[in-house]
Amino acid sequence: MRQWWMGKNIYQIYLRSFMDGNHDGIGDIPGVIMKLPYLKSIGIEIIWISPHYDSPMDDYGYDVRDFYRVSSDYGTIDDFKQLITEAHQIGIKVIIDLVLNHTSDEHPWFQAAKDPNHPEHVKYHDYYIWHKPKTDDAGLMQPPTSWIGWFGDRTWTYHPLTDEYYLHIFSKKMPDLNWRNHEMIDDMKRMILWWVAQGVDGFRLDAANHLEKNWEFPEAYPGYEHFSSLPKHHDYLHMLSEEIFKPHDLLILGESGGANKAEALAYVGYHQGSMNMLIQFGHCWADIDPTQPQLGKWSQGVVDVVKIKKSFQTWYQILGHDGWNLIYWHNHDQPRIISHYGSDRRYHARSGKMLAIALYLMPGSCICYQGEEIGMVNVRFRKLEQFRDVEVFTEYDNMRRMGKTKRQALRLLSRRCRDNARTPMQWTHGAYAGFSPVQPWIDMSGRKHTINVQSQSHDPSSILSLYRFLLKLRRSDDNITFGTIEFIDIDHPDSFCYRTVGATCEYLVITNFRNRTISVQLDDIHKFAPVTGSLKRIPPLKNRMVLAPFAAFVYRRTRRRES
Ligand code: NOJ
Repeated sequence: MRQWWMGKNIYQIYLRSFMDGNHDGIGDIPGVIMKLPYLKSIGIEIIWISPHYDSPMDDYGYDVRDFYRVSSDYGTIDDFKQLITEAHQIGIKVIIDLVLNHTSDEHPWFQAAKDPNHPEHVKYHDYYIWHKPKTDDAGLMQPPTSWIGWFGDRTWTYHPLTDEYYLHIFSKKMPDLNWRNHEMIDDMKRMILWWVAQGVDGFRLDAANHLEKNWEFPEAYPGYEHFSSLPKHHDYLHMLSEEIFKPHDLLILGESGGANKAEALAYVGYHQGSMNMLIQFGHCWADIDPTQPQLGKWSQGVVDVVKIKKSFQTWYQILGHDGWNLIYWHNHDQPRIISHYGSDRRYHARSGKMLAIALYLMPGSCICYQGEEIGMVNVRFRKLEQFRDVEVFTEYDNMRRMGKTKRQALRLLSRRCRDNARTPMQWTHGAYAGFSPVQPWIDMSGRKHTINVQSQSHDPSSILSLYRFLLKLRRSDDNITFGTIEFIDIDHPDSFCYRTVGATCEYLVITNFRNRTISVQLDDIHKFAPVTGSLKRIPPLKNRMVLAPFAAFVYRRTRRRES
């Protein structure tokens, strides 16, 4: 059955860096309201905003101090209500981030939990996950396990007042919640319903697969299997789905890495799923250097194009007719896509357009991450003080322990860190790129004078013009969003070619992922005509095509008479 959210274009807003409406150097909700007409003009139908809740900002809002308050950095509840009203007036739905796995250590629940003298200590202590210290052979106190969290740090922090360790799989200021506690769950449900009453159209479920833990706490290193994707987390999500998400017809985007077919269907299967779309990561780190396993995602190898194609293909195969697909290049947790998989210098515009064409003709729903539509690039931070992300600081220490020099560590971090995607949106070629009249909270990319909305808006050959064209095409042609995909020569190491076949027409996408000329072999090419849009000089189709660096072309043919 067709749902209201199917095929609608989604845009991810990293609130802190989108638009500064009150001139304090920090993006905010009034800034988003100011830019709604822009979003409408490029064909956006749903916005997802990163956490707007009151927070000490250790992880920039994913550490929630009060779920019922809007952060003073971002505005007020009245601003939030105005955003919902104004977005709805122009036909844009709003979904917000929902952080279920943890709170800030400054949340009143944790304040009570850690203080044995607090009147409600006993109740709230059990909202979190605690464990007594272990003692080693030398009689020294040790954490319960050697687990390593997602920011590269130990998952346990000792708290002297309770003489226990608490579990945190992200930063130590983000204690994990105990989803086996029914009172905590009831508090969460009340909070979710409160935001539904404010008019939100859905949620993006943060860290959705981490809600259950292995309560045996076995010794393991790094131990991810004991705090991620444990089967019982599906029970919690299904409960929320049955009681809240489905009855309110909300759009639920869930974040979960590494799901297999059964899990994927449990998440987003039309019949049994607890959510509607899955944010997965199979295509995100296709350039890790296997010879440097100790560096994990911080190592950089050659982009494995086959891996990227196969990841997308796997998702289309897994969900098939049983669930809805979601496509995106990157979000606020990965480097900028042009710097990552394209060429951010010589072939900036060309590779930006190639990446757009490679992605945006695929079936399902798409998420465009802020700034992707103008081809924003990574920053080149050279000093540790320039970084803002909590993960960078733990990983810097890890790299130094591994023997990397300061310079080597900074270079590795600068290429791959999350701050790359979090620099302010570049609106104009004015001061601070029109994001703010004052120095922003994080340094801007050095390329703001050439890469910005203003300079691309009226240039028909810009990356932005192509995004506008593709997003509008997706809105107007169900053949794309409701089509099926067939990859062409999927084992070709350099090309990214596919057909998207809809009920009445079929698109053929041909792209070269490399900065050198390649050739591709194509069959069954008759009756395809070029789709021009903002693309110029599309060559006629031939069985053997020679593609210049980062070339990308789209063709279309009718399947049967369109009514
Ligand atoms: C996933 C979010 O995308 C990321 O930014 C955040 O740091 C973690 N979850 C923890 O909430």
